[in-house]
Parts: sequence; C-alpha cells; structure tokens
Amino acid sequence: MSEAFEAFKIADDVYWVGAIDWDVRNFHGYQTSRGTTYNAFLILAEKPVLIDTVRSPFFDEMMARVASVIEPGRVEYIVSNHAEPDHSGGLVQAIQAIRPGKVLASKMGRKALVAHYHMPADRITVVGDDDTLDLGNMTVHFAETRMCHWPDSMVSYLADREVLFSQDAFGMHIASAERFADELSADLLDAEARKYYANILLHLSRFVDKTLAKLGGLGLPLKILAPDHGPIYRRPEDIENILASYARWSAQKPANKAVLIYDTMWHSTAKMADAIAEGLTAAGTKVELMSLATSHRTDVATQLLDAGAVVVGSPTLNNGILPSVADVMTYIKGLSPRNLVGAAFGSYGWSGEAPKILHAMLREMDIKTVADPLRINYVPDAAALRECREFGKALGVAIGDFCNDAR
Ligand code: FEO
Repeated sequence: MSEAFEAFKIADDVYWVGAIDWDVRNFHGYQTSRGTTYNAFLILAEKPVLIDTVRSPFFDEMMARVASVIEPGRVEYIVSNHAEPDHSGGLVQAIQAIRPGKVLASKMGRKALVAHYHMPADRITVVGDDDTLDLGNMTVHFAETRMCHWPDSMVSYLADREVLFSQDAFGMHIASAERFADELSADLLDAEARKYYANILLHLSRFVDKTLAKLGGLGLPLKILAPDHGPIYRRPEDIENILASYARWSAQKPANKAVLIYDTMWHSTAKMADAIAEGLTAAGTKVELMSLATSHRTDVATQLLDAGAVVVGSPTLNNGILPSVADVMTYIKGLSPRNLVGAAFGSYGWSGEAPKILHAMLREMDIKTVADPLRINYVPDAAALRECREFGKALGVAIGDFCNDAR
C-alpha cells in the first residue's frame, strides 16, 4: 500500500479518502479543464463506514488513504450513494479488499450496481427514506434524491457530526490540493459550480427542486456539506450560497442576454454574426458571441444558464448545417434549457437549408423563435450587414419583452 496518500480529516471522526484526478479533461463530453476529484469518505465510528468509492483507476489511491487511518478490513459497511462509475468504479475491488458486513444502496442503486458489475443482488442491502445505519456510537440517515443525478442517487447524513454526503449534488469539477471551498477563490467556485450545474444537472432541474425541497423540509443542521466532486463546504455562508445558487439555477429565469453561437465556412456567417451582435448590443441586450472554432460546447451550455436567448448560425454545407454546429445543438438539446427565445441565421450559396434547419431545431427544443431565419446569399455586402444589424436589434427588443413578461 502506497504511503504517499493520507486520509484528510474534515470533521471529528470523518475523513476524506478520495482521489484527485488532475488530468481528466473529458467527462462524457463535458470539458473538465481543471480536472476533478472523486470524493469518498470514511466515518471512523465503532462500526466504520466508507461512503462511496472512486473511479476504478484511482482505487489504490483511495485504499491507501483509508489504510492511513484504519486497517481496511475493519471497515464494516460501504454505502453507495450513487452508482455512476466515477463513484462506484472502485466498489467491486473495495468489497474484495475490505469484505464489509454490508453494502448499502438505494433500490435503484442496487439495480444499477447489479447491471454495471454483475454482482449478486442479495449482496446489496436496500435503504431508502427514513432508513438509518447504526454505527454503534453514531447513526447515518438516508434520503433518496432520485435523478439528482441518476435514478439511484441518494444522500447520507451523519447527524452526530452534522455532515451531509450529497453525492453529485453541489459538486464541481476542480482538481486541487485544497479540500475546503473556503480555501479557493469565490469567483472560481462560482464559475465551476455554475459550469457543473449547466452541464450535468440543467435538464434535471425539476428534480433539483425536489431535492432542495426535501432537504429543506428535513431541516438538517449542517456543519459540513460534502459532495462527491470538488471542494467540501464548511462555512455556513458557503453552504447557504451554494444552496441559493442551485435554487436560482434550477429556476432558469431569463435575463436580457443572448448567447450567439455560430461557425463559418468562408467567413460570411462570421460577418453576419458580428453584425447581429452589434444590433443586439444597440438594443441593450448583453451578448456572448461564441465562435465554435474557439468555444467548447461546455462553455456554450454554461453561458445559457443565465441567458434569455440563443441565436445560432451556420452556413449551408451539403444541404445541411456544419458538423460543429450540429454537435453543440445536439448537446444543448439534451440539456433542455428552459425559458429561452431563439433565432437562426446563416449564409448560403444555392440551396440555403441551414438556417431553416436550425430554426426547426430550436422549435424542437421548445425554444420560442422570435424571427424568421435570416439568410444571406454568399458574401454579405453593406446592405446585407445592415439587415443583419437590424435583425439583431429586433431580436434584442423581443428578448427584452420576453424577459419583462417572465417577471
Ligand atoms: Fe459524479 Fe453522476 O457521477
């Protein structure tokens, strides 16, 4: 067992025993530009319990951290709050190494773990709302938080230390040597928590609402909020802040801001985008102009979290849209952003389907289109650029009206 890794105490008798993944940059399409952590926790009670594990390549790191504070065979229980492999990848090896008395998961968690790892179902004890796990001198309480992030998701609460282990909820993808949120800058935390929400939980916002209502209803005193990714919250104001951010993000109230995304073939659609952005700005709408040559889908999704409109452009290529635009539209569609209006544009040579295709895609996504698709033949001249600018101004007015109506 490596002696390079140690457990990190986050409360009396409670240790972080996770792993730091400094290198991961692609999390099923989400660009994790700062890496991440897979947080696992150990409660050193009379009957010790391991809460969640880590992604499988990091199993040795987790076990070394466990072994730094306890002989691993003494761990009595393993709780799986979430079955996604970044938290359960080390579970089978952990069961073999530790031989715990019980492995506990939600009903859907058991189903998911059996389907992933083909373990016997009776190896997993199902727990749900109001169930508890007696650790001898302490007690763990469980609450299901379905679809926050998967059907199996649940949280565990150690009332004796007022620690909530919240699995994916309230997490973020940051690899850091610091374990506590208050050791990192507030701006960094906000940016990464926002990105995580937009790319992981946005389409599950109604389940986030249910989770917030459930946790609020339980009225749990909280000293520590310990998600499965990124830093751990220990200051009351930081805990309040992330809970308030989740409530705000899940509501997705529209703001007078347009995210203008496009790609271009011979720079004509880029010229259109610039002119539309100028028109939006002239109408008083904040603009985030994102060329897909330089902007990742992850950042597009993040920008949409506090926007009121998406304006999308593509030239027509082979009677269709550019692959880079199709990529982002597919990604956004899956995330189901709400409370947006939209419009489409693009240059074309002879057939000009792209703006119409994008217009239809926006409507399929329940994004209300507030203008007909704007098409310009080949290269926009001065008159065409004026038309683009006017298009942007009209969009800005429509976005402002939409935001006022939503108040
Ligand atoms: Fe971090 Fe849904 O897994």
